[in-house]
Amino acid sequence: MNPRLCVAESAQLASAHVTTVRINASDAVSIETSALIIGVHTTPEGPRPAPGGEGLDQALDGRLAEILTTMGFSGKAEEVVKIPTLGALPAPVAVAVGLGDAPQDGAEGGYDLETLRRAAGAAVRSLAGTASAALALPARTAAEAEAVALGGLLGAYDFTRYRTNGDLKPPVGELTVLSGAAGAEEAVAHATTLAGSVTLVRDLVNTPPSDLWPARFAEIAQETGGEAGLSVEVLDEVRLKEDGYGGIIGVGQGSINPPRLVRVAYSHPEATRKVAFVGKGITFDSGGLSLKPSASMDWMKSDMGGAGAVFGALLAIARLGLPVNAVGYLCLAENMPSGSAQRPSDVLHTYSGKTVEVLDTDAEGRLVLIDGIARAAEDEPDVIIDVATLTGAQIVALGWRTAGVMSNDDDLREEIVRIAGEQGEAAWGMPLPAELRKGLDSAVADIANLQPERWGSMLAAGIFLREFVPAGVRWAHVDMAGPAFNKGEPHGYTPKGGTGALTRTLVAVAERYAGNGTSAQAV
Ligand code: BES
Ligand code: MN
Ligand code: ZN
Repeated sequence: MNPRLCVAESAQLASAHVTTVRINASDAVSIETSALIIGVHTTPEGPRPAPGGEGLDQALDGRLAEILTTMGFSGKAEEVVKIPTLGALPAPVAVAVGLGDAPQDGAEGGYDLETLRRAAGAAVRSLAGTASAALALPARTAAEAEAVALGGLLGAYDFTRYRTNGDLKPPVGELTVLSGAAGAEEAVAHATTLAGSVTLVRDLVNTPPSDLWPARFAEIAQETGGEAGLSVEVLDEVRLKEDGYGGIIGVGQGSINPPRLVRVAYSHPEATRKVAFVGKGITFDSGGLSLKPSASMDWMKSDMGGAGAVFGALLAIARLGLPVNAVGYLCLAENMPSGSAQRPSDVLHTYSGKTVEVLDTDAEGRLVLIDGIARAAEDEPDVIIDVATLTGAQIVALGWRTAGVMSNDDDLREEIVRIAGEQGEAAWGMPLPAELRKGLDSAVADIANLQPERWGSMLAAGIFLREFVPAGVRWAHVDMAGPAFNKGEPHGYTPKGGTGALTRTLVAVAERYAGNGTSAQAV
């Protein structure tokens, strides 16, 4: 028996603090709350309250700008300052958060939604230890109210499960979004569902590999997915071997924690289209026998961020009841060195029927993904999108926050880049240059898992994956090695550690395929 199973029972996955959010159309200055959050713009004449913040200025006898200027606050994006209200309103503290320059009068769509999400997130994050907060940020449309709610909920995240220090300040427990916009209730409910998924993904990424190995992840998918109405099927190592999933078996065979392939499916009676998502789920990537140096290894618990995003997205799709069919594959394995580990020069018989020579066991993500992609193609979806913390080269090329998107279809690639951008999840289109294919030629197998040179290795990984996409299937690959995990300081609504990146983008892609509202058919 695996002794780690005992640990699992005590490791609760649910966040200790679940922040709730509600909507209220009442006056910002009369609301009973521990803290009132308002937005502030920069102007040549100094800081100026944004819509929603005027009441606070009046309650302070029109002296808000003077107070903010005295505090050295200008209204730059995400700047945060707390002001005691000294009885001027029920909330003992007001929090001003910068929104930068005001949008031009009559600007189409009003506020940039990501500016609102980040401001709400930064303000709520500064209030850890406070019971409740009311967000009086601009929320004159349902979309703005949703952005404020989502930013606030995501900013309230903290991962405290492994801390024993009782003095810890818990995140804000209850948020109220002040908005009278038509449709604001539904918009805030939508934000709450998305935030629930992102929170779960962050928890999964932050959970140490001692408490999250492939079988445990599969169990969580079964429990949580089942409750949401998803049908969840788990292939264990015996089935994987029988059915020919050589890529997943090869990567997982060095670990005492065997691999899993989890299929998570959602269907809707009125759906006409089907999306398939495939996630890289390496619960720990040591590199295998091609061992990583320690400094690159300590954060490789985040190497299951793609599978996390896929699972989180499927949960949200089910909870929202989207009229689309969706299927997710979580390609779960632990990449470890041992006497049973795969060796550089081993040849794998993958699910697609093609053989792969493993030149470097640290290029493992693509080995599990190709089995997931080949299996997903059997579902005959309209599109396959894989998401993966695949290459360090993505971080070299695009930095920590911008994912790289590659595809066998230019329109699909640009569509994903656009949708991700709308969610505030930065992404950029990347090419799959034909000349890089030659570098993947193997002396013994159909293809090698690595090109001999390191230049362009994000693209070479994409080209490798493309070889396993059956002809005629529209496919895109998102490399989010950087965005999945924040090694730096928190910013906006993004905490340190697991970010939940790409979860919301996948939901938005599914919404597009569901043909929500009057939007045009997805490409
Ligand atoms: N999981 C890593 C990629 C990674 C690096 C994710 C940094 C997040 C942050 C992946 O499995 C890996 O090791 N990739 C190698 C591939 C190489 C051997 C071709 C890399 O990028 O160095
Ligand atoms: Mn690796
Ligand atoms: Zn990896």
